[in-house]
Amino acid sequence: MTFEILKNNKKSWDKVAHHFNGKDALPSYGPFTQTEEELMLFGDLTNKKILDIGCGSGHSLRYMAEKGVNEIWGVDLSQNQIETAKETLEGMNPKLYCAPMEKDINLPKEYFDFVYSIYVIGWTMDLPATFKLIHSYLKSGGTFIFSWDHPLYPYLKSENGRIFLEGTYQNEGTVTYENFKGEDAPMVIPTRKMSTYINELITAGFTIEKVIESDVSESFDSIEEEVSDRYYSLYKARKFPTTMIIKARKQ
Ligand SMILES: C[S@@+](CC[C@H](N)C(=O)[O-])C[C@H]1O[C@@H](n2cnc3c(N)ncnc32)[C@H](O)[C@@H]1O
Repeated sequence: MTFEILKNNKKSWDKVAHHFNGKDALPSYGPFTQTEEELMLFGDLTNKKILDIGCGSGHSLRYMAEKGVNEIWGVDLSQNQIETAKETLEGMNPKLYCAPMEKDINLPKEYFDFVYSIYVIGWTMDLPATFKLIHSYLKSGGTFIFSWDHPLYPYLKSENGRIFLEGTYQNEGTVTYENFKGEDAPMVIPTRKMSTYINELITAGFTIEKVIESDVSESFDSIEEEVSDRYYSLYKARKFPTTMIIKARKQ
């Protein structure tokens, strides 16, 4: 079942990959969200070994390379994304793998100073296995940082600027989108509560250092928002966090 979903999601990600070239990449943690330059979650990156889960087009890894890391590794489900990442990272000696994050593909264990993931973790069909694998990749004392939609955010609907709750945050499961990004690209995406992410991190052996419910990046300070019913809008983001960001450490 999980295998089937991943196989179909992979096909769809290959189709929509071009919509995500350089989108949702560091220093951004998410739509309208504070950036790494504002939050400073990583600290010194010089000579560090880093792994990007869901590296997409490779733009976060390029940001890391510019910060002076020693080794850049990335995993992504989509072969098309991996091909784009190779172009983005030309000359930087990246180690890139096309694979689902849920699967053990023999990446080195106890090896990385940082594992991070920008707007990808929520796609995993097996959260416990994914967190357990990420924990195993890290050196002791290593850090895992990820961002994802605030788990309540998908339930916030807006009509003429009036925001209300639709659906049931209580029910965890999956949602199917028949036309992701307006293309004939069906996707299945899990829904989870905030507590599930936190508790699964603890179960995998992490110590949680910081939980951030995003605020709007200061780069939008001078922009007056218009009332908007779009899924992501400055109007909504000024009222409710679009993104959750969690920083956790392996002891
Ligand atoms: C919003 S994009 C992320 C962009 C990326 N973080 C960056 O820095 O450019 C989501 C990515 O997650 C990948 N993805 C989705 N499901 C995945 C899975 N199960 N395992 C690994 N990657 C996955 C997609 O192929 C896509 O490249």
